[in-house]
Parts: sequence; C-alpha cells; structure tokens
Amino acid sequence: MGTLPPGPRTSIPSLVRYMRDPIGCMQPLTQKYGDPFCFPGKPPLVMTGDPAGIKAIYTADPDTFEPLNQDLGVFIGPRSLILASGAPHKRARKLMMPPFQGARMRAYGEQMVRLAEERAATFQVGQTVTMSDVLQELSLAVILQVVFGVTERAGMDALAKLLLEFTNGISPLLALFPALRREFGGIGPYARFLGRRRRLHAALDELIKKGRATGPREDILSLLLAARTEDGEPMDDDEIRDQLILLVVAGHETTAIAIAWALYALHRPENAATLGRLREELASLGPDPEPEKLGKLPYLEAVCNETLRRFPLAPAPAPRKLLRPLDVMGYNLPAGTGVVAAISVAHFREDVYPEPMRFSPERFLDRSYSPFEFLPYGGGARRCLGAAMASYEMKLVLGTWLRRHRLRLASSKPDNGAVRAANAGPASGVKMIVEGPLG
Ligand code: HEM
Repeated sequence: MGTLPPGPRTSIPSLVRYMRDPIGCMQPLTQKYGDPFCFPGKPPLVMTGDPAGIKAIYTADPDTFEPLNQDLGVFIGPRSLILASGAPHKRARKLMMPPFQGARMRAYGEQMVRLAEERAATFQVGQTVTMSDVLQELSLAVILQVVFGVTERAGMDALAKLLLEFTNGISPLLALFPALRREFGGIGPYARFLGRRRRLHAALDELIKKGRATGPREDILSLLLAARTEDGEPMDDDEIRDQLILLVVAGHETTAIAIAWALYALHRPENAATLGRLREELASLGPDPEPEKLGKLPYLEAVCNETLRRFPLAPAPAPRKLLRPLDVMGYNLPAGTGVVAAISVAHFREDVYPEPMRFSPERFLDRSYSPFEFLPYGGGARRCLGAAMASYEMKLVLGTWLRRHRLRLASSKPDNGAVRAANAGPASGVKMIVEGPLG
C-alpha cells in the first residue's frame, strides 16, 4: 500500500490564493505541512520543492508518468507534444528537438534583434508603455518568423490577430474548470473560443499546404515538414498543426512575461546598482554588437536567470500522473497519484538561495545550481523544448533595449504577480515611461 504526505483537507482555498498570489501561494503550505505535501482530490496531487523530491521525479524512467491534464487537448490540440506520453512523446521530441537546439539559435538571433529594434523605434520620449503588451506582440512576431517563416507584413498581421484571439480566449476559468467548457447554444466564452479555434485551424492548414508546396526553408514549420523518424515516417498535417499551436501557446506569452519581469526588477529603486552593472557590461561591447556577443555576456545571463528564479512563470507546472508507484522522499506514492515539481517552492528555499526574495543576479555568478534547485524550464524528459530559444530571446531583447533607452517604472507599487492564462505574470503589465536615449 502506498502512502501520501500530509496536506490541506480541501484545495479550494489554495486555488483562490493561487489566483491572487501565484508566486507566493505555496510556501506557507510547506511551512505548515512540510515538503512534500499533498492536495486532496481525484487524483491527489503531491507537490515537492525539495531538491531530493524533484530529483526523484526528474530522474525516474519517463514511462513512470503520463501528463495529468489531458483535458487541455481542447486548447492545445490532443496530439501536441505536451499531452503525449510514452513512445509517441519520445518520437515527437526527437522530431521537434533539432530546430530548438542552441546552435540553431544563431540563425534566429538577427531576426530577434531586428524585431526588438523595430519595436523600440516606436517609443516616444514621455510615452507610457505597457511592457507586457508590447513584449507579447514582439515575441509573437519572433515566433511568426522563426516558427512559421512568415515575413511579409500583411500575412504576419493576419496570423498574429488569429493567434492572439485564440490564446487570449483561453481564460484561466476555462482552463481550470472543465465544467465551464459548454457551448450554451452558441453563446458564452467557450462557444467564442471554439469559433476562434476553427478560424485558426483553417489558417494553419493553409500554411502547412503552402509549406509542402514551397519546399525547404530555415523556419521550424519547414523543418517539421521535412522531419522523419528512423523508419522514414513523417508527421502528418493534423499533428503538425497541433504542434504549431502548442509552440505558440507555450512560447510567446511565456517569453514576453519573463522579459517584462526582468524590466520590472531592473528598474525597481532597490536594484539600481544591478541595472548600472548591466549597462556597463552592455556598453563594453561598443555600438551594434553581433547578437551572439550579447548572448554570451555573463552578467546579462545572470540577470535573466535571476529573473526566472525570482519570478517563476509556471509556479507548479505540468502535473504528471503516476502509472506505477514512485518513491519520493520516503513516501511510496501509489499509481494514479499526481506529482509536481513545485518551482515556486524550490526557487525560494533559504538554504539554497539566501534572502530568496532579494533580486540578486550575483548569486548566479558566485555558484552554479543543480537542475533540481534551479528549474525555470521544468526538467527530465519533458524539460521545456523552447528553453534555449526563450533564454536567447530574453538576452537579445533586454540587451538591445537597455543599450539604447532609458526607461522608468510608472508606479513604485510592488507587483506580486497575477495569473494570466496558464502563467504567472506581472499584475500591472509593467507600465514604463520612456525617458529618452542613453546619453
Ligand atoms: C521564459 C520562457 C519559458 C518558460 C519559463 C517555459 C517553461 C516551461 C515549463 C516549466 C515547461 C514544463 C516542463 C516540465 O514538464 O518539466 C515547459 C514545457 C514546454 N515548453 Fe516552455 N517555457 C518558455 C518558453 C518556451 C518557448 C519559447 C517554447 C517554444 C517556442 C516553449 C515550448 C515548450 C514545449 C513544447 C513544452 C512541452 C515539452 C514536453 O512536454 O516535452 N517554451 N516550458
């Protein structure tokens, strides 16, 4: 017989707290119940932020688990990588990995910098800019070029509109409460969402058809069309469409939120020295550095890592369901239990990160962290496919903007974050005033 760790008797108060305080909501639970702890439910959900518990999950045989939230298939497509398990997951990852490997990022760097410069050129002195909106638009443009190869303005605008309508239609309420996913005679948020999904599918099917007719290019769609398993099997069009939707849903809002958090943290008055040190490092590259040089700056990298630590976007991501028992820190968890590596607990452990609430990139220069201590992109066989792309985009956008522009936060009020779709982002959207070019 398996055993479950202690935990609250109902998960409803924690869900309410999660909506209000997604980053901080889980730490009080570990103080009260210990680590790991368990949310009751069908299935019960065991959370751990202890490196030993996380190691047990991330190093187990991948066939120990399947993704828990299969019902999310209505949003991201039933055949998408994030919902696949076992052999189909292994096969899809193998086919999709090559375009996302570090070395390929060089090819995308020029486009990322150019798009970041184009957005910054529209900033006017004195203007207030809501950074999460501008960054969402920017990272969507990056995805459209890098993933779909869409470069002409009209095509980009039309597809961006469909994608934004679609992703913004995935409200946290629809995502968290499947009972609300009813059409109610063609009215209401779910019926609207289904209409948007139909329009998006039609546009993607058209792009896939065009991609097959045009032949190989540099973009990810065309690499997916050409990808073959060892037996020479390609992906069919329906699977490619589901994977494309996943890449957009998983890839654009996340990166935009991470950059918005970095801008927020760097411009808080208590972090003025951090911003100063970063500007010095950026200035040392001289005018118009190559994207690759920006990508290699150690302090810029430390700033991005500290942002991802201090403001985890996915506080408790991608629950896995046990297909067989698993030992986690002395508990023999039975098959059927849900398990989660709780990033928002792991990243705030005093013993690993002294003064965990402080934004201090220096900690990433002073020591290195194991994949069970620092896990912004999750881990094991399901570690984020877009991690190299997201980290590179963060560095290039921040580097490009901060080399040229002086910005200041419009409000001095601290921002503790709020849930946006499936992610924890800044509640304020990070409003900033453009002060002018750097003197
Ligand atoms: C700062 C930005 C990002 C963060 C913090 C982030 C975080 C994550 C996390 C925590 C997971 C779950 C990993 C796990 O289950 O252990 C994940 C999965 C995934 N992410 Fe990201 N992500 C980011 C950007 C991106 C980008 C840019 C893309 C692609 C364009 C992407 C594509 C994916 C995919 C496809 C998966 C599913 C992997 C699988 O199940 O095998 N992500 N991401």
